[in-house]
Amino acid sequence: MKYDVTIIGSGPGGYVAAIRCAQLGMKTALIEKYDTLGGTCLNVGCIPSKALLDSSEHFYNAKNHFKAHGIGLTNLKVDLKQMISRKDEVVSQTVAGIDFLMKKNKIDVLHGIGSFMDSHTISVKGHEKETIIESDKVIIATGSKPASLPFIKLDKKRIITSTEALSLKTMPKHLIVIGGGVIGLELGSVYARLGTKVTVVEFLDSLIPNMDKSLGRELKKVLKKQGFEIYLKHKVTAVTVKGAKVSVKMEDTKGEEKSLEGDYCLVAIGRKPYTDGLNLEKAGLETDASGRIEVNDQLQTKTENIYAIGDVVRGAMLAHKAEEEGVFVAETIAGQKPHINYLLIPGVVYTWPEAASVGYTEEQLKEKGISYKSGSFPFRASGRARASMDIEGFIKVLAHKETDEILGVHMIGPRAADMIGEAVVAMEYRAAAEDIARISHAHPTYTEAFKEACLAATANRALHI
Ligand code: FAD
Ligand code: NAI
Repeated sequence: MKYDVTIIGSGPGGYVAAIRCAQLGMKTALIEKYDTLGGTCLNVGCIPSKALLDSSEHFYNAKNHFKAHGIGLTNLKVDLKQMISRKDEVVSQTVAGIDFLMKKNKIDVLHGIGSFMDSHTISVKGHEKETIIESDKVIIATGSKPASLPFIKLDKKRIITSTEALSLKTMPKHLIVIGGGVIGLELGSVYARLGTKVTVVEFLDSLIPNMDKSLGRELKKVLKKQGFEIYLKHKVTAVTVKGAKVSVKMEDTKGEEKSLEGDYCLVAIGRKPYTDGLNLEKAGLETDASGRIEVNDQLQTKTENIYAIGDVVRGAMLAHKAEEEGVFVAETIAGQKPHINYLLIPGVVYTWPEAASVGYTEEQLKEKGISYKSGSFPFRASGRARASMDIEGFIKVLAHKETDEILGVHMIGPRAADMIGEAVVAMEYRAAAEDIARISHAHPTYTEAFKEACLAATANRALHI
């Protein structure tokens, strides 16, 4: 079989690249080693985690907030089996949607492990047969897998990754989470809301340390109120299992040892690029020291006809980043001149309150020596937030000191994941804080806090604080 473009990996990078290639008139094949399409994001990442976050949030609100709203409930309980099965149903529906899109766009889907025989020839080893295909161009979109520590043996029963945490059969009594990043806090939130004791051990001095430090500080406060126990600046030195018990040993910065006992330990210390089985060397390629495939600004590898996108290359490991890169490569192959502004790829953490960020952090501006002014608005002062009892958090706007151009927006609060979109649009069009401050925002909405933070950034003229 001969194709114009073959994509290896059907995650958000790969399947979106396939659709755009097909739209541009290329004969396209998509190879996926698993039986379902959609990759990490749809099967064991973004979608199932958000399904469980929503379910657990309903329970948490029913238990903790309904009474204040004047709603009485008796016999409230969690049916974990049903919660997980609803999540599975959401995943099945979403994955089926990708099958539909492949058919609609006349993309040939081949299930099996894709391995290079040379730079234009790929073997696809399925359950029953091997198919050899020839392709003019190839896009590698093989994604990532959970990272671990050399002394940890992931038994996937008691010492687990995010994948197992999304399908537990019994409710953990005490979940110990290694890593205070996105996965640790999102999946930690799921179980904390359902009544599990959750302890987070983070190596650095802040939660979500890659984001503006103000978000980690605020998140630590709110998560502690929700029952989280948090150890910052602690290094895990051993994790062992005995029967149904997991022990975690850790050390603080002074070398003092502590140990924790729980029934599950979630290892969430990042993800590593995945290239196993690809036979990269047959295509003249190798990976760098972190396991990534190196690419140039066009996302082209050193073998001219092969491109790579998503988690397997440099940059944020995010579904929407992978999607942008999928479209970028398809259009580049078609001879167009697309562009991605990596500074404006937003980051979101789906805790409650949600945290979201775009542009430079305050720490980065300081490091770069860019002069800036900062304006914040707390949700405590928002009528909409008071109405929904979501008064924790704030929106912080960082604008250039002289030009007033918005350089970064960092928020923690209700629906921050959706609100960050306005900041992305503003920054894409290089808006000044004054521009947003003069745009009418519907009342009462959470987005008024963004306008107020922009007012605060422009000569400290917020109206409601
Ligand atoms: P992947 O989605 O990893 O897909 C790669 C695919 O390639 C897989 O299906 C794999 O089976 C296949 N493959 C690999 N090797 C071969 C081979 N040799 N032959 C054939 N097929 C192969 N990101 C967000 O933006 N928002 C979120 O809310 C979010 N939540 C997440 C929650 C969790 C628990 C996790 C783990 C991740 C989350 N992410 C989220 C990250 C997101 O899932 C990834 O950034 C995204 O899936 C990367 O897309 P990708 O296309 O590069 O790779
Ligand atoms: P992460 O990089 O977000 O967090 C890992 C955390 O573990 C960091 O805070 C790091 O300092 C800490 N850490 C590293 N080694 C440690 C050690 N030995 N002991 C203690 N702490 C240690 O990675 P995470 O949470 O595993 O997520 C992986 C990827 O998946 C992320 O890159 C993220 O972008 C993506 N993801 C995105 C989501 C979203 O967009 N909402 C949700 C979940 C995952």
